[in-house]
Amino acid sequence: MTRERWNSRMIFILAAIGSAVGLGNAWRFPGTTYNNGGGAFLIPYLIALLTAGIPLLILEHAIGRRAQAGAPIALKKMHKRAEPLGWWALATSFVIVSYYCVVLAWTVHYMWSSLTHAWKAVGPADYFFGNVLKISDDPGMLGGFSVPVLICVAIAWLAVWLSLRNGVKSVSKVVVWTVPVPLVLLIVLMIRAVTLPSANIGLTFYLQPDWSALLKPSVWAAAYGQVFFSLSILFGIMIAYGSYLSKDSDLTTDGMIIAFADAGISFLAGFAVFGTLGYLSNVTATPIADMSVAGVGLAFITYPEAISNLPGGAVAISVFGLLFFLMLFTLGIDSAFSIVEGIVAGLVDKFNWNKKKTTLVLCLIGLAGSLIFATRAGLYWLDITDHFVNDFNLIVIGVIQCFVVGWLFGAKKIRTYFNETSSIKFGRWWDIMIRYVTPIVLLYISITYLIENIGNNYGGYATRYIAIGGWGVVAATIITGFVLTFIRAKHPAPEGEEDAPALEEG
Ligand code: PHE
Repeated sequence: MTRERWNSRMIFILAAIGSAVGLGNAWRFPGTTYNNGGGAFLIPYLIALLTAGIPLLILEHAIGRRAQAGAPIALKKMHKRAEPLGWWALATSFVIVSYYCVVLAWTVHYMWSSLTHAWKAVGPADYFFGNVLKISDDPGMLGGFSVPVLICVAIAWLAVWLSLRNGVKSVSKVVVWTVPVPLVLLIVLMIRAVTLPSANIGLTFYLQPDWSALLKPSVWAAAYGQVFFSLSILFGIMIAYGSYLSKDSDLTTDGMIIAFADAGISFLAGFAVFGTLGYLSNVTATPIADMSVAGVGLAFITYPEAISNLPGGAVAISVFGLLFFLMLFTLGIDSAFSIVEGIVAGLVDKFNWNKKKTTLVLCLIGLAGSLIFATRAGLYWLDITDHFVNDFNLIVIGVIQCFVVGWLFGAKKIRTYFNETSSIKFGRWWDIMIRYVTPIVLLYISITYLIENIGNNYGGYATRYIAIGGWGVVAATIITGFVLTFIRAKHPAPEGEEDAPALEEG
C-alpha cells in the first residue's frame, strides 16, 4: 500500500501552519508577552524560536519523513526502545484535544451570542460563567451538563471528523480555507483595533520593553514554553505530518517558513488584542492591568466587553463579534484536527487498522472525553488538566526526544539526512541545539516546574482534584504509552520497511 501524500508542497506548508497557528497565537502569545517584559520579551522569544523551535520542528518533520510513519513507529525506528515515547506524546495530545474542542465549542456558542449580543443583559463575565458554562462551585460538583456547551461540543467534533474523514486528501481541501480565512479576519480586526481611539495605550502596554525582564529565568522559560506550544511540536503531530512528505522535500526551508509564519501571526494578534484593550481601558476607565489579558478571560469576557463598546452600535457589535469568534474557530479547528490526525497515524501505522474507521472511532472517543469538560465543573478540570499535561508532559517528552535523537540515534546522522534534500544546509550548530541547548533548557524548566507544583496546589485547588485531574492524568498518559507499546498488532503492517529507501542515511 502506498502512503498518503500531501497534494503539493504548498498544502503541506499550509497544513503545518494550520496546526501551529491556533488559540495559542491569538490569546496566549499577547498575554505572555505582556506578562514577561512586553517588547523585551521578543528577544527571548526569537532566541527560543531559533535555538529550539526551528531545530525541533525540522527534526520532527525529518523523523516522520524518514520513517514514513506516525510518532510511535517513527521513534521506534530511531531506537528500538523509544516507541513508548511516541505513544506518550499521542496520549498527551489526546487529552489536549479533548479540552481544546471544548474551547472551540465556546467559540461556536459565541458566534451565535454575538449575533444577538446576548451578554448585554447580565454583562460578559456573568454571561460566560453563568449562562454559558453554568459553572458550579467546586470541581467535585459536576452538576450535569451545560446543554448549549454540549451541543456546541458535538458541532466542534463533527467539524473535526469532517475535516479528517478522507485523511490527507480532505485535510488538503480544508486547510486551503482554514488557514487564510482567519488570517484575513485577523488583519481586519487588527486594522479596526489600531484605528480605535486610545489604541496606543494598549499597544504601549503590549510592547513597552522592560529590559530587566531579560534577567529573569522565568521569562526565558515562558519564551521556550510558548514556542513549543505554538509550533505544535512534541505532540507527535509534526512527525505524522512529515510522514506524508515525499523524500525530496526541502525540510529546512519549509520548517523556517512555517515557524516564521507562526511567529509573525502571533505578533500581529498582539496588535489586535492590545489595540482593542487600549480603547476599552479608555471608555470604561479601567486600567489594562486590571483586565484579563490572557486565556479564557480575554476571549470570552474582555473581548466581548470591548466589542459591546465599539462605535457603530448594534451592527458593529454583531459584525465584529461574529468575525472575532469565527476567527478563533477557524484558527483552532486545524490545530484540533491535526492532533487527531497525529494519533490516527500512530494507530494505523502500528495496528494496520482501516484509517477511516479509526478516525471515526477516535473522534467518538474524543467526544466522550470532552464530556467531562462540558459539565458545569468543566472549566475547573480544563484548567487543572491543561496546567499539568500541557506543561509537564510536554517538557519531559522534549527532553527524552532530544536524548533519543541527539544521543542514541545521532544528531549528525539525522542532520545529514535532512540537509541532503534541503536548499539551506544546517551546520554543526544544529547538533549542539538538539544535544545540549534544548534539553538543558527543558530540564531547567521542568525542575522549576516541579519545585513550584510539589507542595503547592496549582490554582488553589484541593489536593484530591490535583491528584485526579493533574498527576492522575499525567500517570494515565504514561501508562497508556507503555500499554500501547506492548500490545502486539494482530495484523501488523507488512514488515521490511526497515530497509526501505526512506531509511538510507546517504
Ligand atoms: N499550536 C496550537 C496553538 O498555537 C496549539 C496546539 C498544540 C495544536 C498542540 C496542536 C497541538 O494554538
